[in-house]
Amino acid sequence: MEICIEQNRTLSEPCACLVVACQENGQLTASAEKVDELSGGFLRRFLSYGDFTAEAGQCQLLYGIPGIGAERLLLVGVGSEKKLSEGKLQKAARALGREIARSELSEIHLALADVAVAHRSGAAANELWLRGILDGQYRFDQHRQPAKRPRRSLRKINILLPESGSEGERQEWQQSCDLALAISRASDWARDLANQPGNICTPTWLADQAVAMAQARGIAYEILGPAEMEELGMHLLLGVAQGSRQEPRLIVLHYRGGAEGAAPIVLVGKGLTFDAGGISLKPADKMDEMKYDMCGGAAALAAIQAAADLALPLNITAIVPASENLPDGKATKPGDIHRSMAGLTVEIINTDAEGRLILADALTYAKRFNPEAVIDMATLTGACVIALGHQTAAVLGNHEGLVSELLQAGRSSQDRAWELPLFEEYQEQLKSPFADLSNVGGRPAGTITAACFLSRFTEDYRWAHLDIAGVAWQSGDNKGATGRPVPLLVHFLQHRAKAH
Ligand code: BES
Ligand code: MN
Ligand code: ZN
Repeated sequence: MEICIEQNRTLSEPCACLVVACQENGQLTASAEKVDELSGGFLRRFLSYGDFTAEAGQCQLLYGIPGIGAERLLLVGVGSEKKLSEGKLQKAARALGREIARSELSEIHLALADVAVAHRSGAAANELWLRGILDGQYRFDQHRQPAKRPRRSLRKINILLPESGSEGERQEWQQSCDLALAISRASDWARDLANQPGNICTPTWLADQAVAMAQARGIAYEILGPAEMEELGMHLLLGVAQGSRQEPRLIVLHYRGGAEGAAPIVLVGKGLTFDAGGISLKPADKMDEMKYDMCGGAAALAAIQAAADLALPLNITAIVPASENLPDGKATKPGDIHRSMAGLTVEIINTDAEGRLILADALTYAKRFNPEAVIDMATLTGACVIALGHQTAAVLGNHEGLVSELLQAGRSSQDRAWELPLFEEYQEQLKSPFADLSNVGGRPAGTITAACFLSRFTEDYRWAHLDIAGVAWQSGDNKGATGRPVPLLVHFLQHRAKAH
């Protein structure tokens, strides 16, 4: 995808498709006004028919408009508010993206700089427009017949900036384009990894994909197998994997964009390539969606990719424990006790609470890198979907500053999160009569007790946990991975990079 900024372009210059925004109340944005003027009142006449109401997200493609250079005019409705809200902007941008994909447009000229957006500079709004449009282009059709795929796809986006802009402003816009592109590319990759079915996306395959990405960008990596895990005493990770014929992997990437020796930010992501629940077998309904149980891992890898593409001046390490969780004669049984790499023993009451087990050993492994901060993300609990639905991820952590940075990154990226408490009292629920810890804490506060479990392995550093069970993928007609929380992570990293 090529994105380029054009200043001083007149609307009478030829192009394939010009995109302008329209407001619901008949108010025209500056570019829509210009189009109306050049076309001898065509646009106002069209709007007067009332077919197109310009409600946020409504799109209309028009052909053969006199006086303007564009072969096609694509109108996008932005509603009636004086300033477009961030939510409406995202809705409009995604709808625009889908319309562009549906019409198989390969190049567009965007004249959206004149849409005022609440709480956002023009450049920051541009990031959201671009991300929404790019989101609409995403497809996962590699397992379909080629004939069913579209003939053309979007290849170039031109951004029209008003003449008045200074050089500094132009730079800010360029950065917003770079950021949008890096985020989209990374979340599309995370979505590709996650949408891949479990018979292809195994721990070994996931490790191969990570290595290929790392090699292409000169990122250092290490891949650990069962022998190395045994050596390290990672019996929680091994215990989850022992019911599967697929070997587990610990995927570790080191992006070194910061000063030599500077403490890294460590991203740990749950990489359960298929979670059947183990001996505590899940019900059949929607079990296919448990191929998405590696979305946290995919996000950690993708965030590293984006950091490299943006050349962020930070050291970042990604750690992805990858395994399947299946029932088998060799599988861990309820009541089994395993010793973690950290030394704590765990009674496995429910083999379906496996994410916290593989994360615990990965979080212990993180210590050796003397991290500046550790953030883990995981599709960890069904309880999180009940608490926050599919809109918002949960954040919990042992460091207030880190948690608030993540909440802020959620707001600035519109990939939002909300804090849940990690009060000591909840730890009570994890008591076991036979081991140091139980792996489940009962029905109440399931997301919190899962985080409490993790907190027992993260006492030596600043840590925060993102439960992305509700946001990582969509079910139903639009089934598919969302790429979340890649935007949040990239905003967090970019903010950290600026602070340095
Ligand atoms: N991967 C699941 C969590 C999950 C379930 C995410 C459904 C999204 C949708 C996780 O491994 C799991 O099974 N968690 C259990 C924990 C319970 C046994 C304490 C859960 O949430 O039911
Ligand atoms: Mn599970
Ligand atoms: Zn799981």
